[in-house]
Amino acid sequence: MNQPIALVTGAAGGFGSAICSVLLDSGFFVLATDVNGKALDHLAEHLRGRALTCYHMDVCDLARVEAVAAEALQHFGRPVDVLVNNAGIIGKNFCLQEQGPQEAKRIIDINLTGCFNCTSVFSRNMARQRSGRIINIASVAGIWGASGGSAYAASKAGLIKASESWSRELGPLNIIVTAIAPGICKTKMFGQFVGEEQIQSKEEIKIVKSIVPVGRLGEPEDIAEVVNFLSTCKTNYVNGTVIEMDGGMRVGQI
Ligand SMILES: NC(=O)c1ccc[n+]([C@@H]2O[C@H](COP(=O)([O-])OP(=O)(O)OC[C@H]3O[C@@H](n4cnc5c(N)ncnc54)[C@H](O)[C@@H]3O)[C@@H](O)[C@H]2O)c1
Repeated sequence: MNQPIALVTGAAGGFGSAICSVLLDSGFFVLATDVNGKALDHLAEHLRGRALTCYHMDVCDLARVEAVAAEALQHFGRPVDVLVNNAGIIGKNFCLQEQGPQEAKRIIDINLTGCFNCTSVFSRNMARQRSGRIINIASVAGIWGASGGSAYAASKAGLIKASESWSRELGPLNIIVTAIAPGICKTKMFGQFVGEEQIQSKEEIKIVKSIVPVGRLGEPEDIAEVVNFLSTCKTNYVNGTVIEMDGGMRVGQI
C-alpha cells in the first residue's frame, strides 16, 4: 500500500481531531491515538468510514508506544511517514504555589517526555526507510514564558529545543523535524486556562481582538492547515523550523 501514514497523539482533542480530518482529506491513512478512550470512540464515530484506526495510547507509557509502533509496522509493512506530537495538558492549577512540584512534573512528563518517547520509537522505524516527518505542537508559551504557567512554558520551551536538536540529529537521515508554536486557540485547553464561561463573553472577545492583530482567537483548523503543509510539502528544506501561529500577537504587542 502506497498511501502515506500519519500518527497523531492527543488525536481526540481540539487540535488533534482537526489534524486527523485535514490529513485524511490529504489522502493519509491516520492512526489516531489518545489516552482518553471515550473521546477516541467519539472521534472514531465522527470519522466513520474514513481511513482511520484508533489506538488507546498514553504517551508516557513507553511500552504502549512501542507496541503501537510494532502493530502499525506489522499491519502496513512499513513505518509511519508522519508523526504529530500533539498530546499535551496545561494542568489544573497555574500559579507556582498552587501548582506544586507533582503537578509540574506531570505536565512536563506528558508535554515533553511523552514527545521523547514517541519520537525515539517512531524515528527508529523512519530511519530504516530514510524518510519521515515529525511535527511537534509546542506553544508561544515556550518562547515568551507564561505568567501562571511556568511548568507548561518550560515543557514547551524544552520541546522547541528538542525539536531543533532532533532536526540536526535526524536531518541526515531525511527525517524532517519541525515545530508549531500556537498562540491562543479555541479548544478545551484554552477553556481550562481562562474559565469556560469567559470564552464566549463579549468582554473576552474584545480583549482578544485588542491584542491579536487579526482580531480573533485561533481555531484548531488553523493549526491543522499548517500541520498538513509540513506533512505534505515537497521540499525537505523546511527543517528545524518553529512556526509561530499567534495571529501576529507578538509583533502586535511591540
Ligand atoms: N489550545 C491552545 O490555545 C493551545 C495553544 C498552544 C499550544 N497548544 C498545544 O496543542 C496541543 C493540543 O491541545 P488542545 O488545545 O487541542 O487541547 P485538548 O485538551 O483539546 O487536547 C489534548 C489531547 O491530549 C490528550 N492527552 C492528554 N494527556 C495525554 C497522554 N498522556 N497521552 C496521550 N494523550 C493525552 C487529551 O486526552 C486530549 O485529547 C497541546 O500540546 C497543547 O499544549 C494548545
